[in-house]
Amino acid sequence: MILSIESSCDDSSLALTKIDTRKLVFHEKISQELAHSKYGGVVPELAARLHASALPKILEKAAPYLKEIKTIAVTNEPGLSVSLIEGVMMAKALSIALNVPILPINHLKGHIYSLFIEREERLPLGVLLVSGGHTQILDAKSYDGVKILASTLDDSFGESFDKVAKMLHLGYPGGAVIEEYAKNGEKRFNFTIPMQKSKTAAFSYSGLKNQVRLAVQKLGGNISRQDMYDIAASFQDAAISHILKQCEKILKQNLFKEFAIVGGAGANQTLREKMRILCGNFGVKLYLPQLEFCSDNAAMIGRAGIEAYKLKRFVSPHEIKISPKTAKLFCNK
Ligand code: KG4
Ligand code: ZN
Repeated sequence: MILSIESSCDDSSLALTKIDTRKLVFHEKISQELAHSKYGGVVPELAARLHASALPKILEKAAPYLKEIKTIAVTNEPGLSVSLIEGVMMAKALSIALNVPILPINHLKGHIYSLFIEREERLPLGVLLVSGGHTQILDAKSYDGVKILASTLDDSFGESFDKVAKMLHLGYPGGAVIEEYAKNGEKRFNFTIPMQKSKTAAFSYSGLKNQVRLAVQKLGGNISRQDMYDIAASFQDAAISHILKQCEKILKQNLFKEFAIVGGAGANQTLREKMRILCGNFGVKLYLPQLEFCSDNAAMIGRAGIEAYKLKRFVSPHEIKISPKTAKLFCNK
């Protein structure tokens, strides 16, 4: 079995995956959302401290399986450096104690492999990756053959939801709550869709965030619950329309028969429904991971770990390094 560890941001998670059958034998996650909520975003030092206490607690539950572990897959890039270090330290200690090698795993590749948990790999695929840290369209041909076709020029899709929630004092993370508020709202605010004149499929969310900030400012202290619902609905509509327009540019190129959405913000139901319609218009099949595997988790790291295991990407505890920023390392072959 592979023991996998994920601690790149604010979720501490461990999983055990059978290498030959891909069966997920154990999977547990302790989320730190509540602890960060009052700050409106992840506080790195707090995240690191919480990983340091949560990871050993989960490991205790996985203890009965330790003798069956052949290797340890751990997220080593990208992410918050102080958070990554916690998972990597645990991997190093276990590697020495159990005398097994380590498989360093790129977190973004983990998100791609969230599609294949307990399933066979199904590549090539076009992939929309939408998380708190990334907004990208990827051409995923194989484990090593992942090309970035489009990226955000500034903020990410998920982060823009978090920032809008912060402006409305709705805590962190903002994705699910903004989606919920949007259900009761009308598109009363005329937020413009970003990058409409751009010929490329790049993304940008800083301007849209600013439009929301100005609208909130204009309402001053008199902001009502209905105003909040309407801001959420208007913002979400512009944010998703932007994604759809950029994905359409890629789909028009006829590169893919199959497309997928991965990443924490891939849980957004409106995004899922609208992407399904868009892909349908191009005769492209849309794949989605199970909801529980959209946000950060160790099961996806274990699943990517199976591919790394087959490719013998082993390193020793002395060799493994973290890479907090990694666009270039993301196997742009
Ligand atoms: O993949 P993930 O768990 O962590 C990163 O790797 O960043 O993604 C978390 C992000 C957060 O920004 C969160 O607000 C966003 O995903 N998110 C959503 C939804 N659920 C989570 N964004 C929009 N709509 C949602 N329903
Ligand atoms: Zn993630």
